[in-house]
Amino acid sequence: MKKTKRLYEGKAKILWETDSPGRMIQEFKDDATAFNGVKHEIISGKGVLNNQISSHFFTLLNEAGVTTHFVEKISEREMVVDRLEMLPIEVVVRNVAAGSMVKRLGIEAGRRFDPPIVEYYLKDDDLNDPILSEEHVTALGLTTHEFLAEMKTAALKVNSILTGFLEERGIRLVDFKLEFGLKDGRLVLGDEISPDTCRFHDATSGRIMDKDRFRQDLGGFIEAYNEVLDRVSS
Ligand SMILES: Nc1ncnc2c1ncn2[C@@H]1O[C@H](COP(=O)(O)OP(=O)(O)OP(=O)(O)O)[C@@H](O)[C@H]1O
Ligand SMILES: [Mg+2]
Repeated sequence: MKKTKRLYEGKAKILWETDSPGRMIQEFKDDATAFNGVKHEIISGKGVLNNQISSHFFTLLNEAGVTTHFVEKISEREMVVDRLEMLPIEVVVRNVAAGSMVKRLGIEAGRRFDPPIVEYYLKDDDLNDPILSEEHVTALGLTTHEFLAEMKTAALKVNSILTGFLEERGIRLVDFKLEFGLKDGRLVLGDEISPDTCRFHDATSGRIMDKDRFRQDLGGFIEAYNEVLDRVSS
């Protein structure tokens, strides 16, 4: 399979068209960004780690019957994926209060939610990815009632699979963000699942093992990502 054309470059990844119809190459960069790109740094090796961690999670989800865009990892930084028509929606699942939710609602970080909370955000940097109600999603025609319900079911299934898998490895899955797209009229999980898009805390010490180390200048960024990779590949 050969890259033919650069289709899109985002803050963290590059998408390449290939000579294989319907298949793309997703390349992970070393750029770390936060607060909608206001904070930006190149962290050497980050892309390699996120490609490997995402490949592990997508393989696990494919085996568990979740339809994902992941085909195979082909190099340190690249994976082959099915080309999707992305929905401009970020689906966030929260097991524990953290990040923007704590700020927005003034609740204490660490508060647990059972059942977990599912939120939707409009994927629009200019508007700073505003939160959406389910009615906003359908009223704005971002997707149909059916696909919205399917996304919620899939997101909760991903949550229970990953929560169990990570618990066995001493990691608490605090929250995570998913992106979905359509292929031949079917809903498919796309993008990445990594410490950039999830919050991982050590289940014993509570130590932060995700992009919050960059957001909050805590240091030990690559060490934390390496540790996540070590644990998910064990
Ligand atoms: N299988 C896929 N088919 C088509 N587009 C995809 C697929 N998987 C992910 N994408 C899109 O590719 C882009 C990945 O790039 P990246 O994550 O760097 O940028 P971004 O999401 O636009 O910006 P941000 O930095 O806010 O994440 C995203 O827009 C994502 O929605
Ligand atoms: Mg992205």
